[in-house]
Amino acid sequence: PKIVFIEHNGKEHVVDATVGKSIMQTALDHSVPGILGDCGGECSCGTCHCYVADPAWQQRLPPIAENEEVMLEGTLHTEANSRLGCQLKVTEEFDGLVLRLPHSQV
Ligand code: FES
Repeated sequence: PKIVFIEHNGKEHVVDATVGKSIMQTALDHSVPGILGDCGGECSCGTCHCYVADPAWQQRLPPIAENEEVMLEGTLHTEANSRLGCQLKVTEEFDGLVLRLPHSQV
């Protein structure tokens, strides 16, 4: 599935994601700047924060689990469309997903 990452400066990265990998790992694998993944995907650093660009997609993604919710509460600049990239595992249904990356994660 194709996933689009948009850096805070507007630079777009269209990547071919691998099913089963997390969004965080997908960004790292494709050298997308703006996702750090400092904790390695343990839901404990908040540096894989991204914004779901299209509101319609917020409903289509798997719901936010409690640990993701708690971590998001402690993360800078969260919005209603915030997600943690390490908690989203790519499926075929993710094709066309657009994620914006926060200014604070560079
Ligand atoms: Fe640390 Fe996602 S990689 S919370």
